Amino acid sequence: MKIVKESGFRYSEYTNKKELSTEDIRLIENAVEAQKSSYSPYSNFKVGAAIQLENGEIIQGSNQENGSYPSGLCAERVALFYAGVKFPNIPINTIAITASFNNQQVSEPLSPCGACRQVMIESRNIGNKPMRVILVGKERVYVIEDVTFLLPFNFSSVNDAVK
Ligand code: THU
Repeated sequence: MKIVKESGFRYSEYTNKKELSTEDIRLIENAVEAQKSSYSPYSNFKVGAAIQLENGEIIQGSNQENGSYPSGLCAERVALFYAGVKFPNIPINTIAITASFNNQQVSEPLSPCGACRQVMIESRNIGNKPMRVILVGKERVYVIEDVTFLLPFNFSSVNDAVK
């Protein structure tokens, strides 16, 4: 029997950042600040990420490039892995992401790459709580209530697949 299924999700768009909570605004400011530490001489694309942990801590990350291009790492994964080192098992409430190109802040929200989404979902599952995602552009901000929406059919480990 064939069953047609559907997947989709709702998210919020803000055209005025001031309508966000003070906590979210502070996290966005941290993501913007994180861009300053980006090492991106090859792309000139500075990505900043900031993570709000359940214990109140904020962790920043930025993209770190390398002359051997595939050896570099995206801002999101730098932040997530650092959070894992510094605060293992503390759930992550929210991650905010933004970027600038040639020192111009992106006008539209930056959407994280597939590899980062996969890592974000596993970090979320370690904490076993929804992880909000805030994608920040100059013109608008998107708020997604759980990162799992961003990668349907994500890989969730061999043990989950083999029953
Ligand atoms: N990059 C990120 O840091 N995050 C993403 O989600 C996508 C891309 C970085 C990788 C590289 O340093 C630069 O942006 C250009 O692709």
